Amino acid sequence: MKQQAILNVDVEQGIINKNIYGHFAEHLGRCIYEGIWVGEDSQIPNTNGIRNDVVEALKNINIPVLRWPGGCFADEYHWKDGVGPRENRKRMVNTHWGGVVENNHFGTHEFMMLCEMLECEPYICGNVGSGTVQEMSEWVEYMTFKGESPMANWRRENGQEEPWKLTYFGVGNENWGCGGNMRPEYYSDLYRRYQTYVRDYDGNKIYKIAGGANVDDYNWTEVLMRESARYMDGLSLHYYTVPGDFWAGKGAATGFPEGEWFVTMKKALHMDTLIRKHGTIMDKYDPTKRIGMIIDEWGTWFEVEPGTNPGFLYQQNTIRDALVAGLHFHIFHDHCDRVQMTNIAQTVNVLQSMMLTEGEKMIFTPTYHVFEMYKVHHDATKVAIDMKANNYEFDGETIPQVSLTASKNDEGTVHVSICNIDHKHDAEVTIDIRGLEISNVNGRILTADKMDAHNSFEDGENVKPVEFTGFSLDGKGLDITLPPMSVVVLALN
Ligand code: AHR
Repeated sequence: MKQQAILNVDVEQGIINKNIYGHFAEHLGRCIYEGIWVGEDSQIPNTNGIRNDVVEALKNINIPVLRWPGGCFADEYHWKDGVGPRENRKRMVNTHWGGVVENNHFGTHEFMMLCEMLECEPYICGNVGSGTVQEMSEWVEYMTFKGESPMANWRRENGQEEPWKLTYFGVGNENWGCGGNMRPEYYSDLYRRYQTYVRDYDGNKIYKIAGGANVDDYNWTEVLMRESARYMDGLSLHYYTVPGDFWAGKGAATGFPEGEWFVTMKKALHMDTLIRKHGTIMDKYDPTKRIGMIIDEWGTWFEVEPGTNPGFLYQQNTIRDALVAGLHFHIFHDHCDRVQMTNIAQTVNVLQSMMLTEGEKMIFTPTYHVFEMYKVHHDATKVAIDMKANNYEFDGETIPQVSLTASKNDEGTVHVSICNIDHKHDAEVTIDIRGLEISNVNGRILTADKMDAHNSFEDGENVKPVEFTGFSLDGKGLDITLPPMSVVVLALN
């Protein structure tokens, strides 16, 4: 049965902050080391130690913001170990992630250099769990103070004359868990204390992000908002899409049964409920929505690839991941009045990554292609598009088959993104267009004929976007046929 959508181009619903398309890179497995940092002496083409192919790929998706150094690693990271001559830097154990040696070769200077190459904003996460207030305060001084001071002088000795621009700073990570196993009351007090010393030097205004809840821990949000709202600019939230039970078995990234496709989609859609419920609590204390909801970890989490280090969280990425990404973006757009930034976990070689690398080879994942197709929505104006979708049914359970979103850019072009999450059936959608005379439509599609279709080092182009022609324009309406498991972006003008 045809599904009817109505697009009201003149009903504007807010700006889609480009930071919704942000990323996260942790000292975990082969994300930073190998995935980004290879060192100046590497055979892999690099600029000052950073892989050229990765920089080019991330620039191509207009990466707006990058979160670093963790994650759980952040609350064990002591930044002073990661500055100064590399050969003198302390070697430490990365206890969270595989117990491997961390040589600290990628530190503050290297991260800031990476952000400069990417032309993106740095988002640094500080250490509350095992670090001191002084250490955090000195890190901010080191990075952003212009004049004469112990930390600014040290930065200059280490080769960086001018302070960096630092916009986003997280005060701890998952402090209910790996970041110190704290109660919200305790963390809230610590947050107030630590953030006091995260200073705005020389006109560098820092947007302070408090460590937020795990999934549906609404009490955490309630306590943080009640006790500390006035000291924060953003409050984080973490939610991963895991088809299985997290500890009993997460499910495989490839070769999974139909039921795991369905449950993955269902769990991805749960993000909407979480934002609504945490958002309601935030509204109670912050009705003007001054404080951003910062979903600084999200994405799929499967079992690691067989034979790889379980602590490295290396997983393949399929057309299923692409649909998960599309669904998340539609939900984030729907809440663009509150959701000001999100950071998918993680950029390279870890969890739902953009790229996978093997030595000097690099491939794009299906998720990368969704980020590339959706960059048209960065900082665009969300416009109303509504539909009652047909049911997608599996084993007696139902979820909506189609999800869509629309935005308008400064030139007046409207982009409509649509996901058909059904793994078996086409979706026929008619969009009734109001408030725009269309003379031209073009589109691209990302799809596959197998649920676990993915790219590999042997075939890096198995899943990639191609031109989409499955639509016809008649009168005011656009008739579209989406194949199963597809992400489509249409440009209307
Ligand atoms: O992204 C992997 C880990 O997941 C992060 O280090 C942590 O914050 C979360 O539990």
